Amino acid sequence: MKVFLRVLKWLAVAAVCVLVGLQFFRPARTNPVVDQAQTIHARLQMKPQVAAILDRSCQDCHSNTTRWPWYTNVAPVSWFVIDHVNHGRSHMNLSEWGSLDNRQASKKLEEICEEVEDGAMPLESYTRIHWSAKLSSEDIKTLCEWTAAERARIASR
Ligand code: HEC
Repeated sequence: MKVFLRVLKWLAVAAVCVLVGLQFFRPARTNPVVDQAQTIHARLQMKPQVAAILDRSCQDCHSNTTRWPWYTNVAPVSWFVIDHVNHGRSHMNLSEWGSLDNRQASKKLEEICEEVEDGAMPLESYTRIHWSAKLSSEDIKTLCEWTAAERARIASR
């Protein structure tokens, strides 16, 4: 019994050391400067409801205005979150929407509707913690009607 407790104690000490050691590996949490003229809000027409859904459920991973809660400073959580944000931004950045040409913008809009209809976005690992980011069927309808309307408008330009 005594030996068992001693082993347990050393295992706990080792675990703490590993956790502390992990903290030295710090990938950067970035929020690149936003040019307001290039954001999706400036580039497309949208009702406040649509803007609210994008801000609430997508901007943390798909914009340069990510909100970083305290735990995103703590490894290994920080590694997963930073990776999701960098990855998300590289696929679609709502703060840099102006860099897309009409064809690309139309394609992204189509993908937005597809991803939310499939339930693939926002990522489940995110909505598990951010309950309010979950989309209702009403939200999904609002988004898809908006993407369809904007695609039609882009096509007619
Ligand atoms: C927790 C982070 C996170 C959130 C929140 C999030 N996404 Fe994503 N999104 C990603 C990542 C990461 C990818 C890259 C593809 C993958 O790994 O599935 C992605 C990919 C996409 C793509 C595919 C783009 C392409 O070029 O293939 C679309 C469209 C998209 N997301 C839309 C949305 C929308 C709309 C919302 C909000 C309703 C949202 N996402 C919320 C992380 C996120």
